[in-house]
Amino acid sequence: MSLVNIKIEGVPYQVDGSLTVLEAAKACGYEIPSLCAFNHGECNQGSCRVCLVEATGARGLIASCVYPVNEGMEIRISSPKAVEARRRSVELLLSNHNQNCQQCDKNGKCELLHVAQLVGAREGAFAGVHSETYIDELAPGLVRDTSKCILCGRCIARCSNAHGLGILGFENRGFKTIVSPAENRSFADSPCIQCGQCVNVCPTGALMEHSEIYKVDAALKSGKHVIVQAAPAVRAALGEEFGYPIGTPVTGKMIAAMRRLGFERVYDVNFGADLTIMEEGTELLHRLTEGGVLPMITSCSPGWINYAEYNYGDLLPHLSSCKSPHQMQGAIIKSYWAQQHGVDPKDIFVVSVMPCVAKKFERQREQEIVDGLYDVDAVITTRELARMIRRSGIIFNRLPDEDWDQDIMGDYTGAGVIFGVTGGVMEAALRTVYYKLTGKEYDKVEFTAVRGHEAGIREASIDINGTVVNVAIASGMKSAKVLLDDIRAGKSKYQFIEIMGCPGGCINGGGQPYVRPCFLPNEDDNILDTYKEKRAKALYSEDERQVIRQSHNNPQIIELYDKFLGEPNSHKAHHLLHTSYAAREGFNVIKK
Ligand code: SF4
Ligand code: SF4
Ligand code: SF4
Ligand code: FES
Repeated sequence: MSLVNIKIEGVPYQVDGSLTVLEAAKACGYEIPSLCAFNHGECNQGSCRVCLVEATGARGLIASCVYPVNEGMEIRISSPKAVEARRRSVELLLSNHNQNCQQCDKNGKCELLHVAQLVGAREGAFAGVHSETYIDELAPGLVRDTSKCILCGRCIARCSNAHGLGILGFENRGFKTIVSPAENRSFADSPCIQCGQCVNVCPTGALMEHSEIYKVDAALKSGKHVIVQAAPAVRAALGEEFGYPIGTPVTGKMIAAMRRLGFERVYDVNFGADLTIMEEGTELLHRLTEGGVLPMITSCSPGWINYAEYNYGDLLPHLSSCKSPHQMQGAIIKSYWAQQHGVDPKDIFVVSVMPCVAKKFERQREQEIVDGLYDVDAVITTRELARMIRRSGIIFNRLPDEDWDQDIMGDYTGAGVIFGVTGGVMEAALRTVYYKLTGKEYDKVEFTAVRGHEAGIREASIDINGTVVNVAIASGMKSAKVLLDDIRAGKSKYQFIEIMGCPGGCINGGGQPYVRPCFLPNEDDNILDTYKEKRAKALYSEDERQVIRQSHNNPQIIELYDKFLGEPNSHKAHHLLHTSYAAREGFNVIKK
């Protein structure tokens, strides 16, 4: 690291010479407003001009997020010229922006509003013609509103970094420029996997999840049995919406809040995760011992399933036929639970609270319909649950800790909890496969990074009674592609692969609370580097606290098989709990 001498506001500093002016100023204790720049250079378009400062050696004002420091540089952040320029930049953005903040779900977490306040932007400073805009709401997972887009390019960078996909790009020129899938198509008519990673980074309300709160509201008024189930990763992040430090598990308060919102039963998707392990572990065992298609690949991430169907149709036989945990649990609620409680399945409405946007797509797949009914009737994200709690008047932080409903599907194990973290499904499945083959319990899989592969892939070798099972895990489609290309080329050495759509797994899903340093004054400066690890720790600590840590030891899962399903992978289990996939290609060019 070579150090350079600079001055900010006349005060001398020594800083790392590889920093931008924005980063150097931050390191020295100054905050320059910024908007398009994101996540240590993940997106540095230099397009919004919100970060302008004066600096010696430069002609005029510089965009501090892209301009590097150099020896002897003198930087003025607070000069009248710089202050005025930053204010004008934001006023220009607002002049072509649909400012219906009152109806905008981003309000409260909107970075454009935040910088507008910071720079003192004046209302209506630049009046003029607005560019033509539209809303794309055809996709089940996400909505794009071009009237709120500031053309920052963060979404384009995230789609490419997470997945190597270029779904979004700049279209048209000049005043007509928009950010869109190719040829101004709808998301629904593009190979977008609906993961929502772009939603997570959008600074405004231009990209949002496709809200299903209104469906839940209608169901709660309908007289139906409205049952809610929450995924493991939700408890590890919901607290962030109510001011808790990142990584604080809020399971008890979340349950209490859902009960007060009016849900008749509140269940943990961990029960469904344990059920998935019973089915998936048995499927793997069959494939290992009876010569099925290997490597088998996990199937609980719908973003990954979408990617496979669009890009690797020839590899679909490698996917486990198991539905994801919340779909399995929904199917069990509408069959076993309904039978045990004497309720007509048509009178049940199942709501899943998920860290994921692609689950909204998954629940509407025709392959997930059983006996004419959807397994799950609405999916809301962690963020949507927080919105429902806030508007209801519930003071989340003052709620008592409550427990899940215990009838029929209240037990869960540590194996179910870790489904929310990359590597967790694999570890949970191996605990059960190991037991089935050896009769002994297996608690922990030690994964190692795979040398020579791209970041994001880890592997392990497990010796089970003399048979070595090679396993690998990947999250984010960029990493998954390396493993998939090896399978396609006949070079894969693995028997079992876990793939999650979002980098880091569900804890970093597209429906999780936004992580924005500007709204998190009490978190460390490096929070964008550490938040996934902090959320993961919240789940691993819950696994360690569980008395039962293997899915096959869950007493209510054992009872479910005894009383209702028979054996794992039985005919009835297949009817309710397994699904199928189809290669998807060709688009219809629905514009907008
Ligand atoms: S994106 Fe921000 S500024 Fe625009 S309407 Fe929504 S809250 Fe208001
Ligand atoms: S939802 Fe995912 S795949 Fe689709 S554009 Fe956004 S980041 Fe890319
Ligand atoms: S959609 Fe959002 S992230 Fe993408 S360019 Fe527009 S404002 Fe930026
Ligand atoms: S934050 Fe620097 S130009 Fe946008």
